[in-house]
Amino acid sequence: MTEKPKSLVHDYYGLFKEILGLRKFFRFVAPLILLLVISCISQKNKIYDSRIQEKEILTPAPQKSPRINGAKVYGVRPGKKILYRIPCQGERPIKFKAEGLPAGIHLNEEKGIIEGISPIEKGEYQITFVSENKYGKDSRQFKLVVGDKIALTPPTGWNSWGGHMVHVTDEIIRKAADVFENRGLADVGFQYIGIDDCWMKTSPEMYASRSENIIKKHASFNYDGIVGDIRDEEGNIIPNKNFPDMKALTDYVHSFGLKAGLYSTPGPATCQNFAGSYEHEKQDAEQYAKWGFDLLKYDQCSGGKILKKLKEENTGFQDKDFWKPMAEYLLQQDHDILYNLCQYGQEEPWLWAPDLNIQSWRIGGDLNHNVNTYFDQAFRIAKELREFSKPGQWNDPDFMYIHRIKDVKKMGEPSEEIPLNTNQRYQYVTLWSIISAPFFFSSDIQEIDDFTIGLLSNADVFNINQDELGHVAKIIRDNENETIMIKNLANGTKVLALFNRNASEEITINANWAELDLQGRQKVFDVWRQKVAGSKRDEISVKLSPNGVGLFILSKQ
Ligand code: GLA
Repeated sequence: MTEKPKSLVHDYYGLFKEILGLRKFFRFVAPLILLLVISCISQKNKIYDSRIQEKEILTPAPQKSPRINGAKVYGVRPGKKILYRIPCQGERPIKFKAEGLPAGIHLNEEKGIIEGISPIEKGEYQITFVSENKYGKDSRQFKLVVGDKIALTPPTGWNSWGGHMVHVTDEIIRKAADVFENRGLADVGFQYIGIDDCWMKTSPEMYASRSENIIKKHASFNYDGIVGDIRDEEGNIIPNKNFPDMKALTDYVHSFGLKAGLYSTPGPATCQNFAGSYEHEKQDAEQYAKWGFDLLKYDQCSGGKILKKLKEENTGFQDKDFWKPMAEYLLQQDHDILYNLCQYGQEEPWLWAPDLNIQSWRIGGDLNHNVNTYFDQAFRIAKELREFSKPGQWNDPDFMYIHRIKDVKKMGEPSEEIPLNTNQRYQYVTLWSIISAPFFFSSDIQEIDDFTIGLLSNADVFNINQDELGHVAKIIRDNENETIMIKNLANGTKVLALFNRNASEEITINANWAELDLQGRQKVFDVWRQKVAGSKRDEISVKLSPNGVGLFILSKQ
C-alpha cells in the first residue's frame, strides 16, 4: 500500500514546531546542561584555599544563640562527689535543663553546673542537656557512666608551668579561672586549672643543698617565707606563702564549675627542690582531697634515686610498685582525682599505668625546651603508642606550649613568644586534637592574647579531641612535604588533617577517597573556619601555606 502524501500545510507546520522545539532546547535546556558539566568539572578540579595569614584568627566568634560543646560521655566512680559544668557558648543569661540525672545529682539552672554525689550502683545514665536564651535553644545527649573508669575523654585545661614556673601564685591561678570564664574557654569545654611545681615550701636543709643549676634558675625568686618547716606537727604539708589558702583557691575555681589540679613527686624533693610526698603519700592524698583538688600531676624528679635504690635492694621491685601507692590513696578520696604520671616516658608506663588507675602518663621529656618537636611527639603517639590511648587512659605528649612561655634557665625574666609562627601553632593544636592528647595548654595566662584565645577556643577542634571513640589519628601519607592523617569519630564521620611540612613553599595536597578509605560523595566541613567547604565525589585538593594545615570533617552525603 502506498502511503498517503501529507498535505504541504501540515508539513510546514511540523517543521515549524520542530524548529521551535530545537530552539527552545538550545535556548533553555542546553545551557543548563553545559553549566552543569562545567560546574562538575570545575568542582572536581577546584582547589580549596586553606592558607593562613600571619596572626589570622580562623575561629569565628561564637553565635549569640546557645551551643553546647564538649564531651558526650563522662565517667565518675560510684558514690563520689561530682562537679560538671555544661560547656555552652552563647549570650548569657542562658537557662539550662538536664533531663535524666540520677537521684543525688542536681543542676544549677542558671550556671549550668551539675553537682552532687554519684549513685552507689554502677551504671549508665542517658541525660539530655538543654540550654536556652532569647536567641534560641540547643540540646545535646550526654552519657554519665558510673563505674571504675574516669577520664573517658582526654583531660583538658591549663597548667602553670610553661608561663610561670617558680613564680606561680594563688593570684595567677585565680586569674586563669577568670580567663576560662571571661574569655570563653570554659564554654568550649576546658576544665582543669593546674598548679605545677613550686607551691610548697623548702626546708632549710634542702635550701642549703641547692644545686648550682637551681640557684641560677631561681636567681630572682624571693625565698622569704618559703624556707622553713615543710610540714606541720601532724606531718601535713604546708603550702608556701604564695598560696595562703588552698581551700579558698579551689572553692574559687569550683565556683565556675571548673576543676583544680596540683603537683607533687614521690621523691623527697620536686624538680625545683620543693617538698615532695616521699613517705607521706597517704597523708598528702588526703590533704589534696580536703583542699578540693581534682587532679594530681605526680612527677618523678628526686624519686628517681629512691626508685633505683628500691630496685637494687629488692629484685622483685618494679616501677609500677613505686607509683601504685599514690594511685590507691587517690582512689580512697571522696571525689575523683585524676592521676597524671610524669616519668618522662621511661620504663614504658603505657604498659602498666592503666592497670593502676592512672589516667595519663607522659611519653617523653619536657616539650617547653623544644616546642618545635611537636610533630615528633605526636607521631610517636600516632605510630608506636597508638593502642595505649583509649577512654580512661591517655598518652601525654606534654602540654601545648602555645604563645608566651618562660625560659627554664631564666625564670625571673618575662615570658617570651614561642619560636613558632602562626601556621605552626595551628599545626600544633590540630595535632593535639586529632591524636586524642590531653588537651592542656601551658602559657603565661596574664599575657594571653586574642589570637591565642581564638586558636584554643575553636569548639569544633575541641570536640574532635573530646570525641568519645578516643581514636588516635592514623598517618595515611607522610613525606618531606606532605602529611595526611585521618581520625575516626564516633558518629561514623572522619576527620581529615592535611599538613604542609615544607617551611618555605606553599603546596597543594590532593587526597583521594581510595587512600582515605571513603566511598561516594562527601560533604566537606572546614573545621578551623567552621564552614562547609563543598561537596566532593572522589578527592579533595587543598592549598596550604608553608607549614600550613587544613582540618576537615568528611561526612557521607
Ligand atoms: C619536670 C616536668 C615538667 C615540670 C617541671 C617542674 O621537668 O617534666 O613538666 O613539671 O618538672 O619542675
